[in-house]
Amino acid sequence: MAGHAARDTVLLMAGGRADRGGSTTLRGRRGECERLDRLLAGVRAGSSGVLVVRGEAGVGKSALLDYVVESAADLQVVRAAGVESEMELAFAALHQLCAPALDRLGRLPGPQRDALGTAFGLQAGAAPDRFLVGLAVLSLLSEAAGERPLVCVIDDAQWLDKASAQALAFVARRLAADAVLVLFAAREPGADLCGLPELVVEGLPEADARELLASVVRGPLDERVRQRIVAETRGNALALLELPRGLSQAELAAGFGLAEALPLPGRIEQSFLRRVESLPAETRLLLVVARLSRSATRRWYGARPAGSG
Ligand SMILES: Nc1ncnc2c1ncn2[C@@H]1O[C@H](COP(=O)(O)OP(=O)(O)OP(=O)(O)O)[C@@H](O)[C@H]1O
Ligand SMILES: [Mg+2]
Repeated sequence: MAGHAARDTVLLMAGGRADRGGSTTLRGRRGECERLDRLLAGVRAGSSGVLVVRGEAGVGKSALLDYVVESAADLQVVRAAGVESEMELAFAALHQLCAPALDRLGRLPGPQRDALGTAFGLQAGAAPDRFLVGLAVLSLLSEAAGERPLVCVIDDAQWLDKASAQALAFVARRLAADAVLVLFAAREPGADLCGLPELVVEGLPEADARELLASVVRGPLDERVRQRIVAETRGNALALLELPRGLSQAELAAGFGLAEALPLPGRIEQSFLRRVESLPAETRLLLVVARLSRSATRRWYGARPAGSG
C-alpha cells in the first residue's frame, strides 16, 4: 500500500459503469486516495473504519470507490448500491451487501438469524424488528471479517431504501474492534448517515481539470474555450468528459459560436441527446421501453401498502 500513498495517479479497472470505457486514469485525487489508503491500512491491521464519500453528481465518488476496490485485492470486498427504482423495497440494498455472507447465517444467535431470514424472505414471519436486523448484520459482517478483513462498499447511498440505510448506519456506528471498513458514497447523504465521518469530494483542481479535458479532445482546442469549460464545470469530472462531445470541431478549435451557446448543463444534455439520436431505431426504442418500465416499476412498488415491500 505504501506505493499507493506515494502516487497521485492510479489506473482504475475497466467496468463498473457503462460510461467508463476501458481503464481510466484517476487524476488529482492524491489527498483523497491517501485518506482511503489509511483506512485500508487500518482494516488490514484489524481496526474498523467508516467513511461517507460525499459530493455532487459526476464529481468522481464512484471512481474513488473503484480505487478502493482495486487497492483491496488482498481483502474481502462486498458491494451494494442504492437503486432509485428500489427505494420502496425494504432491505433491497442490504440484501445485495449480505448475499455473499448468507451461508454464515446459521452461526448467528437465533433471534438475529430469524430477523435477517425474515427480512430477506428466507423464512416466513412478521415484519422483523429493525434493531435485531441491525444487530444481525453487525454479527454477520464481524463473523465474515474473522476470516479476512472486510471492506463494504455502498455506492449511491442517496437511493438506499430506508430499512437498509437504517441497518447500515446502525452497523457503521457500532463497529468496534472488527476488521470491517464501511464506505458509502452519496450525493446528499440521508439523515441516517448524518454524523458519520465524511470525505467531501470537490471538483478537480484546475491543472487536473485541464489535463482531463485535454485527454478527450482529439483536435485543437482554443484557449478561451478551454478556460470557459474548466471554469464552468468547476472541475466536475463527468462534465469535463462529456462537454467536448457536445461541441463541434469548429467550436472547440476556434470558439466559433460559443458565446451564444447554451449554458453548460444544457450542453451536456444536448451531447447525450445527440448520442442517443445516432443510435439505430431499435436501440432507441429499447431505451424508451426501459425508461417507461422503470417508471412503471416505481409506481407499482410505490402503490403497494407500506411494510409489504
Ligand atoms: N479523478 C478522476 N480522473 C479521471 N476521471 C475521473 C475522475 N473522477 C471521475 N472520473 C470519471 O468521471 C466520470 C464520473 O465519475 P463518477 O462516476 O465517479 O461520478 P460520481 O460522483 O460517482 O457521480 P454520480 O453521483 O452520478 O454517481 C466517470 O467516467 C469517471 O471515470
Ligand atoms: Mg457514482
